[in-house]
Amino acid sequence: MEFTRVARSGQVPEGIVRRFFAGEYEFAVARLNGKAYATSNYCTHLDCMLSSGKLVDDGIGCSCHGSAFDLETGEPICPPATVAIKTYPVEERDGEIFVGVEPGEMPVGPRRRRKGA
Ligand code: FES
Repeated sequence: MEFTRVARSGQVPEGIVRRFFAGEYEFAVARLNGKAYATSNYCTHLDCMLSSGKLVDDGIGCSCHGSAFDLETGEPICPPATVAIKTYPVEERDGEIFVGVEPGEMPVGPRRRRKGA
């Protein structure tokens, strides 16, 4: 597992989700109850960007059709999505947020764009 710096801690205040890149990887990074989380940035329903959504009780909500996903497990907690999003381990130290990616792991992008590629 390789941890890459994606943001300064101050860029992700409490209750906020934002999009960050590390090389070819794209993440939605959120902070809930003080803890930083990183997930893939595309909803498994119809590929809306989760960084455009809002945090809900214990998850990340998609702005398009109301799906929400658990920030720890990625499991859908509100329909219409039925498939989990990818979640990544996060380390926060010295005011910076690092996201862990397995070597060789493929970046997660929008499924429709991948199919057409
Ligand atoms: S694309 Fe996210 S709920 Fe439909």
